[in-house]
Amino acid sequence: EKGGYDYFMLKEIAEQPKAVADTLLGRIDAGGSLTLDEVRIGAAELREVDKVVIVACGTAFHAGLIAKYAIEHWTRIPCEVELASEFRYRDPILGSRSLVIAISQSGETMDTLMALRHAREQGSKVLAICNTNGSTIPRESDAVLYTHAGPEVAVASTKAFLTQLVACYLVALYLGQVQGTKWGDEISAVIRDLSRISAEVERVLETMEPVRELARSLADKDTVLFLGRHVGYPVALEGALKLKELAYMHAEGFAAGELKHGPIALIEEDLPVVVVVPSPRGRSVLHDKIVSNIQEIRARGARTIVIAEEGDEAVVPYADHLIRIPATPTLLQPLVATVPLQVFACELATARGNEVDQPRNLAKSVTVE
Ligand code: F6R
Repeated sequence: EKGGYDYFMLKEIAEQPKAVADTLLGRIDAGGSLTLDEVRIGAAELREVDKVVIVACGTAFHAGLIAKYAIEHWTRIPCEVELASEFRYRDPILGSRSLVIAISQSGETMDTLMALRHAREQGSKVLAICNTNGSTIPRESDAVLYTHAGPEVAVASTKAFLTQLVACYLVALYLGQVQGTKWGDEISAVIRDLSRISAEVERVLETMEPVRELARSLADKDTVLFLGRHVGYPVALEGALKLKELAYMHAEGFAAGELKHGPIALIEEDLPVVVVVPSPRGRSVLHDKIVSNIQEIRARGARTIVIAEEGDEAVVPYADHLIRIPATPTLLQPLVATVPLQVFACELATARGNEVDQPRNLAKSVTVE
Protein backbone atom coordinates (compact mmCIF):
# COMPACT_ATOMS: atom_id res chain seq x y z
CA GLU A 1 0.00 0.00 0.00
CA LYS A 2 3.03 2.28 0.29
CA GLY A 3 3.52 1.74 -3.45
CA GLY A 4 7.16 0.73 -3.11
CA TYR A 5 8.09 3.64 -0.84
CA ASP A 6 9.51 3.14 2.66
CA TYR A 7 7.04 5.59 4.15
CA PHE A 8 3.63 6.97 3.32
CA MET A 9 5.12 10.42 3.58
CA LEU A 10 7.53 9.72 0.70
CA LYS A 11 4.69 8.33 -1.37
CA GLU A 12 2.53 11.36 -0.61
CA ILE A 13 5.34 13.78 -1.46
CA ALA A 14 5.72 11.99 -4.78
CA GLU A 15 1.97 12.16 -5.43
CA GLN A 16 1.94 15.95 -5.28
CA PRO A 17 1.99 16.67 -9.02
CA LYS A 18 -1.08 14.48 -9.46
CA ALA A 19 -2.78 15.91 -6.37
CA VAL A 20 -2.28 19.42 -7.69
CA ALA A 21 -3.50 18.52 -11.19
CA ASP A 22 -6.55 16.68 -9.78
CA THR A 23 -7.49 19.69 -7.66
CA LEU A 24 -7.49 21.89 -10.75
CA LEU A 25 -9.32 19.37 -12.90
CA GLY A 26 -12.67 20.56 -14.20
CA ARG A 27 -12.37 23.90 -12.46
CA ILE A 28 -10.85 25.89 -15.30
CA ASP A 29 -12.85 25.87 -18.54
CA ALA A 30 -11.45 25.84 -22.07
CA GLY A 31 -11.71 29.62 -22.27
CA GLY A 32 -9.51 30.01 -19.20
CA SER A 33 -12.31 31.09 -16.82
CA LEU A 34 -13.11 29.47 -13.53
CA THR A 35 -16.15 27.30 -13.08
CA LEU A 36 -16.57 26.82 -9.38
CA ASP A 37 -20.33 26.14 -9.47
CA GLU A 38 -19.80 23.48 -6.83
CA VAL A 39 -19.24 26.35 -4.37
CA ARG A 40 -22.90 26.79 -3.64
CA ILE A 41 -22.70 30.39 -2.52
CA GLY A 42 -24.41 32.43 -5.22
CA ALA A 43 -22.59 35.05 -7.29
CA ALA A 44 -24.87 37.76 -5.90
CA GLU A 45 -23.84 36.88 -2.39
CA LEU A 46 -20.15 36.63 -3.27
CA ARG A 47 -20.32 40.09 -4.85
CA GLU A 48 -21.36 41.45 -1.45
CA VAL A 49 -18.40 39.96 0.41
CA ASP A 50 -16.37 42.77 1.99
CA LYS A 51 -14.05 40.76 4.18
CA VAL A 52 -12.51 37.31 4.09
CA VAL A 53 -11.47 35.54 7.28
CA ILE A 54 -9.50 32.31 7.10
CA VAL A 55 -9.40 29.93 10.05
CA ALA A 56 -7.24 26.81 10.23
CA CYS A 57 -4.59 25.00 12.29
CA GLY A 58 -1.00 23.96 11.71
CA THR A 59 -0.08 23.34 8.11
CA ALA A 60 -3.55 24.38 6.93
CA PHE A 61 -3.02 27.69 8.75
CA HIS A 62 0.16 28.21 6.73
CA ALA A 63 -1.85 27.64 3.54
CA GLY A 64 -4.20 30.35 4.83
CA LEU A 65 -1.33 32.78 5.43
CA ILE A 66 -0.26 32.34 1.81
CA ALA A 67 -3.86 32.66 0.60
CA LYS A 68 -4.10 36.10 2.20
CA TYR A 69 -1.46 37.48 -0.18
CA ALA A 70 -3.31 36.07 -3.19
CA ILE A 71 -6.80 37.10 -2.05
CA GLU A 72 -5.84 40.67 -1.23
CA HIS A 73 -3.76 41.07 -4.39
CA TRP A 74 -6.30 39.64 -6.80
CA THR A 75 -9.54 40.82 -5.20
CA ARG A 76 -8.60 43.84 -3.06
CA ILE A 77 -10.90 42.40 -0.39
CA PRO A 78 -9.29 42.61 3.07
CA CYS A 79 -8.37 39.17 4.38
CA GLU A 80 -7.49 38.07 7.91
CA VAL A 81 -5.99 34.73 8.81
CA GLU A 82 -6.37 33.36 12.29
CA LEU A 83 -5.44 30.24 14.16
CA ALA A 84 -8.74 28.45 14.64
CA SER A 85 -7.92 27.74 18.28
CA GLU A 86 -7.72 31.48 19.02
CA PHE A 87 -10.56 32.68 16.86
CA ARG A 88 -13.74 32.56 18.87
CA TYR A 89 -12.09 33.55 22.13
CA ARG A 90 -11.33 37.06 20.95
CA ASP A 91 -14.88 37.86 19.90
CA PRO A 92 -14.01 38.48 16.23
CA ILE A 93 -15.89 41.11 14.23
CA LEU A 94 -17.98 39.23 11.69
CA GLY A 95 -21.13 39.93 9.77
CA SER A 96 -23.28 38.69 6.92
CA ARG A 97 -20.86 40.13 4.38
CA SER A 98 -17.87 38.29 5.84
CA LEU A 99 -16.81 35.14 4.05
CA VAL A 100 -15.13 32.73 6.42
CA ILE A 101 -12.92 30.07 4.86
CA ALA A 102 -12.16 27.03 7.02
CA ILE A 103 -9.22 25.00 5.72
CA SER A 104 -8.85 21.42 6.95
CA GLN A 105 -7.39 18.26 5.45
CA SER A 106 -9.26 15.88 7.74
CA GLY A 107 -12.45 17.91 8.11
CA GLU A 108 -12.54 16.79 11.74
CA THR A 109 -10.25 19.24 13.53
CA MET A 110 -12.19 20.38 16.58
CA ASP A 111 -10.56 23.82 16.82
CA THR A 112 -11.50 24.59 13.22
CA LEU A 113 -15.00 23.20 13.67
CA MET A 114 -15.63 25.38 16.73
CA ALA A 115 -14.33 28.43 14.86
CA LEU A 116 -16.68 27.84 11.93
CA ARG A 117 -19.65 27.28 14.23
CA HIS A 118 -18.87 30.58 15.87
CA ALA A 119 -18.71 32.29 12.47
CA ARG A 120 -22.07 30.89 11.41
CA GLU A 121 -23.63 32.03 14.67
CA GLN A 122 -22.51 35.55 13.75
CA GLY A 123 -24.34 35.23 10.42
CA SER A 124 -21.28 34.75 8.21
CA LYS A 125 -21.11 32.33 5.31
CA VAL A 126 -18.55 29.58 5.71
CA LEU A 127 -16.71 27.96 2.83
CA ALA A 128 -14.77 24.82 3.72
CA ILE A 129 -11.63 23.79 1.85
CA CYS A 130 -11.35 20.15 2.76
CA ASN A 131 -9.78 16.89 1.62
CA THR A 132 -12.22 14.45 3.20
CA ASN A 133 -15.59 13.86 1.59
CA GLY A 134 -18.56 14.07 3.92
CA SER A 135 -16.49 14.94 7.01
CA THR A 136 -17.88 17.19 9.73
CA ILE A 137 -16.37 20.54 8.66
CA PRO A 138 -17.83 20.52 5.12
CA ARG A 139 -21.13 19.15 6.44
CA GLU A 140 -21.46 22.10 8.82
CA SER A 141 -20.34 24.69 6.28
CA ASP A 142 -22.46 26.60 3.75
CA ALA A 143 -20.30 25.40 0.90
CA VAL A 144 -17.25 23.30 0.24
CA LEU A 145 -14.44 23.20 -2.26
CA TYR A 146 -12.81 19.79 -2.02
CA THR A 147 -9.10 19.34 -2.49
CA HIS A 148 -8.44 16.18 -4.46
CA ALA A 149 -5.23 15.06 -2.82
CA GLY A 150 -6.53 11.56 -2.16
CA PRO A 151 -6.16 9.99 1.29
CA GLU A 152 -3.25 11.37 3.30
CA VAL A 153 -1.96 8.76 5.74
CA ALA A 154 1.32 10.17 7.06
CA VAL A 155 0.68 12.41 10.05
CA ALA A 156 2.74 15.22 8.55
CA SER A 157 0.73 16.98 5.90
CA THR A 158 2.35 17.32 2.45
CA LYS A 159 0.15 16.78 -0.59
CA ALA A 160 -2.89 18.12 1.26
CA PHE A 161 -0.99 21.38 1.83
CA LEU A 162 -0.19 21.86 -1.85
CA THR A 163 -3.81 21.20 -2.80
CA GLN A 164 -5.03 23.59 -0.10
CA LEU A 165 -2.91 26.24 -1.76
CA VAL A 166 -4.39 25.42 -5.16
CA ALA A 167 -7.92 25.59 -3.73
CA CYS A 168 -7.16 28.94 -2.09
CA TYR A 169 -5.81 30.35 -5.36
CA LEU A 170 -8.97 29.15 -7.13
CA VAL A 171 -11.20 30.79 -4.54
CA ALA A 172 -9.20 34.01 -4.74
CA LEU A 173 -9.40 34.08 -8.52
CA TYR A 174 -13.08 33.20 -8.46
CA LEU A 175 -13.84 36.01 -6.03
CA GLY A 176 -11.92 38.35 -8.30
CA GLN A 177 -13.87 37.09 -11.30
CA VAL A 178 -17.25 37.48 -9.58
CA GLN A 179 -16.50 40.87 -8.06
CA GLY A 180 -14.92 42.10 -11.29
CA THR A 181 -11.87 43.38 -9.46
CA LYS A 182 -8.59 43.24 -11.28
CA TRP A 183 -9.76 40.84 -13.92
CA GLY A 184 -7.74 40.85 -17.06
CA ASP A 185 -4.49 39.79 -18.58
CA GLU A 186 -2.73 39.28 -15.27
CA ILE A 187 -5.41 36.91 -14.03
CA SER A 188 -5.55 34.94 -17.29
CA ALA A 189 -1.79 34.58 -17.07
CA VAL A 190 -2.07 33.27 -13.50
CA ILE A 191 -4.66 30.73 -14.56
CA ARG A 192 -2.36 29.58 -17.36
CA ASP A 193 0.57 29.32 -14.93
CA LEU A 194 -1.56 27.39 -12.45
CA SER A 195 -2.47 24.85 -15.09
CA ARG A 196 1.24 24.26 -15.74
CA ILE A 197 2.33 24.13 -12.12
CA SER A 198 1.91 20.39 -11.63
CA ALA A 199 4.69 19.78 -14.18
CA GLU A 200 6.92 22.21 -12.26
CA VAL A 201 6.31 20.34 -9.00
CA GLU A 202 7.30 17.17 -10.86
CA ARG A 203 10.54 18.83 -11.99
CA VAL A 204 11.36 19.81 -8.40
CA LEU A 205 10.85 16.22 -7.26
CA GLU A 206 13.35 15.02 -9.86
CA THR A 207 16.13 17.15 -8.37
CA MET A 208 15.84 16.26 -4.68
CA GLU A 209 18.88 13.99 -4.23
CA PRO A 210 21.24 16.81 -3.15
CA VAL A 211 18.61 17.95 -0.62
CA ARG A 212 18.54 14.46 0.88
CA GLU A 213 22.32 14.39 1.07
CA LEU A 214 22.38 17.78 2.74
CA ALA A 215 19.73 16.70 5.26
CA ARG A 216 21.75 13.61 6.21
CA SER A 217 24.82 15.78 6.80
CA LEU A 218 22.87 17.89 9.33
CA ALA A 219 21.50 15.00 11.39
CA ASP A 220 23.48 15.93 14.50
CA LYS A 221 22.46 19.61 14.57
CA ASP A 222 20.14 20.92 17.29
CA THR A 223 18.64 23.92 15.56
CA VAL A 224 17.68 24.97 12.04
CA LEU A 225 16.26 28.40 11.24
CA PHE A 226 14.08 29.27 8.24
CA LEU A 227 13.71 32.71 6.71
CA GLY A 228 11.41 34.09 4.06
CA ARG A 229 9.67 37.22 2.93
CA HIS A 230 6.22 37.79 1.42
CA VAL A 231 4.73 34.35 0.60
CA GLY A 232 8.13 32.87 1.43
CA TYR A 233 7.52 33.71 5.09
CA PRO A 234 4.67 31.18 5.57
CA VAL A 235 6.77 28.73 3.54
CA ALA A 236 9.54 29.23 6.12
CA LEU A 237 7.03 28.60 8.93
CA GLU A 238 5.91 25.42 7.20
CA GLY A 239 9.52 24.23 6.73
CA ALA A 240 10.12 24.77 10.45
CA LEU A 241 6.90 22.99 11.46
CA LYS A 242 7.80 19.96 9.35
CA LEU A 243 11.23 19.78 10.94
CA LYS A 244 9.85 20.05 14.48
CA GLU A 245 7.26 17.37 14.05
CA LEU A 246 9.41 14.91 12.09
CA ALA A 247 13.00 15.45 13.20
CA TYR A 248 12.18 16.68 16.73
CA MET A 249 14.65 19.51 16.19
CA HIS A 250 14.40 23.07 17.34
CA ALA A 251 13.25 24.85 14.21
CA GLU A 252 11.87 28.34 13.79
CA GLY A 253 10.63 30.34 10.86
CA PHE A 254 11.05 34.10 10.68
CA ALA A 255 10.14 36.89 8.33
CA ALA A 256 13.59 37.86 7.10
CA GLY A 257 12.89 41.53 7.77
CA GLU A 258 12.43 40.71 11.46
CA LEU A 259 15.97 39.36 11.81
CA LYS A 260 17.44 42.64 12.91
CA HIS A 261 14.69 43.05 15.51
CA GLY A 262 15.96 40.12 17.55
CA PRO A 263 16.45 36.71 15.94
CA ILE A 264 19.80 37.64 14.41
CA ALA A 265 21.22 37.20 17.93
CA LEU A 266 20.66 33.46 17.45
CA ILE A 267 23.10 33.24 14.55
CA GLU A 268 26.32 31.48 15.46
CA GLU A 269 29.08 29.60 13.68
CA ASP A 270 27.78 26.86 11.38
CA LEU A 271 24.09 27.28 12.32
CA PRO A 272 22.04 26.03 9.36
CA VAL A 273 19.67 28.70 8.06
CA VAL A 274 17.32 27.92 5.20
CA VAL A 275 16.35 30.99 3.18
CA VAL A 276 13.43 31.03 0.74
CA VAL A 277 14.27 33.63 -1.89
CA PRO A 278 11.50 35.40 -3.81
CA SER A 279 11.73 35.68 -7.57
CA PRO A 280 14.16 38.36 -8.80
CA ARG A 281 11.58 39.17 -11.47
CA GLY A 282 8.37 40.76 -10.22
CA ARG A 283 8.95 42.10 -6.73
CA SER A 284 12.67 42.67 -7.15
CA VAL A 285 12.91 44.96 -4.10
CA LEU A 286 12.08 42.00 -1.90
CA HIS A 287 14.63 39.89 -3.68
CA ASP A 288 17.39 42.42 -3.13
CA LYS A 289 16.48 42.78 0.54
CA ILE A 290 16.67 39.07 1.14
CA VAL A 291 20.03 38.84 -0.61
CA SER A 292 21.35 41.35 1.92
CA ASN A 293 19.75 39.33 4.74
CA ILE A 294 21.67 36.29 3.49
CA GLN A 295 24.89 38.31 3.44
CA GLU A 296 24.25 39.50 7.00
CA ILE A 297 23.73 36.06 8.49
CA ARG A 298 26.59 34.54 6.54
CA ALA A 299 28.93 37.25 7.79
CA ARG A 300 27.98 36.09 11.28
CA GLY A 301 28.86 32.47 10.55
CA ALA A 302 25.54 30.94 9.46
CA ARG A 303 25.62 28.01 7.07
CA THR A 304 23.23 29.27 4.38
CA ILE A 305 20.91 26.90 2.58
CA VAL A 306 19.35 28.97 -0.15
CA ILE A 307 16.22 28.05 -2.09
CA ALA A 308 16.19 30.22 -5.19
CA GLU A 309 14.73 30.32 -8.64
CA GLU A 310 16.70 28.94 -11.59
CA GLY A 311 18.71 31.74 -13.16
CA ASP A 312 18.91 33.79 -9.95
CA GLU A 313 22.66 34.41 -9.94
CA ALA A 314 22.70 37.13 -7.26
CA VAL A 315 22.42 34.56 -4.45
CA VAL A 316 25.26 32.33 -5.66
CA PRO A 317 28.14 34.03 -3.81
CA TYR A 318 26.32 33.77 -0.46
CA ALA A 319 24.88 30.27 -0.66
CA ASP A 320 26.75 27.48 1.08
CA HIS A 321 24.12 25.18 -0.36
CA LEU A 322 21.91 26.14 -3.26
CA ILE A 323 18.58 24.47 -3.98
CA ARG A 324 17.10 25.45 -7.32
CA ILE A 325 13.37 25.71 -8.00
CA PRO A 326 11.65 26.56 -11.28
CA ALA A 327 10.73 30.16 -12.01
CA THR A 328 7.07 30.78 -11.14
CA PRO A 329 5.01 33.91 -10.52
CA THR A 330 5.73 35.13 -6.98
CA LEU A 331 2.32 34.25 -5.55
CA LEU A 332 2.54 30.67 -6.83
CA GLN A 333 6.10 30.08 -5.66
CA PRO A 334 5.05 28.28 -2.43
CA LEU A 335 3.83 25.36 -4.57
CA VAL A 336 7.39 24.64 -5.65
CA ALA A 337 9.37 26.10 -2.72
CA THR A 338 7.69 23.92 -0.07
CA VAL A 339 8.63 20.63 -1.72
CA PRO A 340 12.36 20.69 -0.89
CA LEU A 341 11.49 21.55 2.72
CA GLN A 342 9.24 18.49 2.98
CA VAL A 343 11.98 16.26 1.56
CA PHE A 344 14.53 17.89 3.87
CA ALA A 345 12.46 17.21 7.01
CA CYS A 346 11.57 13.67 5.96
CA GLU A 347 15.21 12.77 5.29
CA LEU A 348 16.42 14.36 8.52
CA ALA A 349 13.83 12.40 10.46
CA THR A 350 15.00 9.17 8.82
CA ALA A 351 18.65 10.01 9.48
CA ARG A 352 17.82 10.59 13.15
CA GLY A 353 16.02 7.25 13.35
CA ASN A 354 12.58 8.74 13.89
CA GLU A 355 9.29 7.20 12.88
CA VAL A 356 8.43 9.28 9.81
CA ASP A 357 4.76 8.47 9.36
CA GLN A 358 3.86 8.48 13.05
CA PRO A 359 5.83 11.17 14.88
CA ARG A 360 5.73 10.95 18.66
CA ASN A 361 2.87 12.67 20.50
CA LEU A 362 0.96 13.50 17.29
CA ALA A 363 -2.28 12.24 15.79
CA LYS A 364 -3.46 12.60 12.21
CA SER A 365 -6.68 14.24 13.15
CA VAL A 366 -7.07 16.30 16.27
CA THR A 367 -10.64 15.92 17.43
CA VAL A 368 -10.25 17.62 20.81
CA GLU A 369 -9.94 21.33 21.48
C1 F6R B 1 1.34 19.26 10.19
C2 F6R B 1 -0.04 18.80 10.32
C3 F6R B 1 -0.97 19.54 11.24
C4 F6R B 1 -2.33 19.75 10.57
C5 F6R B 1 -3.32 20.40 11.53
C6 F6R B 1 -4.66 20.67 10.89
O1 F6R B 1 2.05 18.49 9.28
O2 F6R B 1 -0.42 17.85 9.70
O3 F6R B 1 -0.42 20.77 11.61
O4 F6R B 1 -2.14 20.53 9.44
O5 F6R B 1 -3.50 19.58 12.65
O6 F6R B 1 -5.26 19.49 10.45
P1 F6R B 1 -6.47 19.52 9.43
O7 F6R B 1 -5.96 20.07 8.15
O8 F6R B 1 -6.89 18.08 9.27
O9 F6R B 1 -7.53 20.37 10.02
